[in-house]
Amino acid sequence: MTDRDPNDSLPIAVFDSGVGGLTVLHECLVSLPEEDYVYLGDDARFPYGAKTDAELRACVLRNTRFLLERGTKLLVIACNSAASAGLESARELAAAHGVEVVAVIEPEAEIAAAITDSGRVGVLATPATVAGGSYLRALGRQRRELTVTQVAAPDLAAIIQRGFPFSEAVVEQVRSYCAPLRRARVDTVILGCTHYPLVRPMLQRFLGREVRLVTAGHALAAAAERILEARRIASSNRGEGEYRFVCTGDPDAFRELGTRFLQLPLGDVELVDL
Ligand code: DGL
Repeated sequence: MTDRDPNDSLPIAVFDSGVGGLTVLHECLVSLPEEDYVYLGDDARFPYGAKTDAELRACVLRNTRFLLERGTKLLVIACNSAASAGLESARELAAAHGVEVVAVIEPEAEIAAAITDSGRVGVLATPATVAGGSYLRALGRQRRELTVTQVAAPDLAAIIQRGFPFSEAVVEQVRSYCAPLRRARVDTVILGCTHYPLVRPMLQRFLGREVRLVTAGHALAAAAERILEARRIASSNRGEGEYRFVCTGDPDAFRELGTRFLQLPLGDVELVDL
């Protein structure tokens, strides 16, 4: 007789507009290796960062519904633009299926508030995330006075999603996004888009070596682990679980880029029409 939930064998579902969420999946694969995963890249609708709140909520609900129908025990929103506009909608829908949602934004705000010495925190994010103000609200909830400088980077996720061509023009573009953060003398910068950790070395160089970069992957994996334990739905597998990828755009391009970024073979990428 066991009091484990039969849902423990379902996968953890992760979604993003493209390959950026692989930076979060990577942390989950490392922290919770025995779990199974399904990753959805909604690359047909990339970029999310240029969408309105209403459009983003529609994307979030579509992705959430699809992943719930496929069967999942925990949903991870690994996209800041999506979480910024649609976290509450996703939570409502998932709750009706008894599934919890963990997401980016709040975890990075907590980390940034905890590690900044000067209280000057930068946020580099997509236009949608900056305009939605979710980081300002999340940082405002922390128990200390913070001065926040936000910078919207309209092209950066798209440059990365294209496979990051290392041209001088791209380098100058990235440098220009970092300049206002340097001027504001921030000591901590939240990489507020899950694509950005994929170019971390370049960002670190332009921001300065002393600036601390905050990403969400590790904190999200820890939050996922806490929920699995509390709800007694952690996998009873021993050894490594499986992972599967689905996308809405070009499966070959997704596989090629994803393999490069995740540094693991992706296997077959299934094309889905959402
Ligand atoms: N990775 C996504 C984010 O975290 C966004 C990129 C995009 O689709 O614009 O916001």
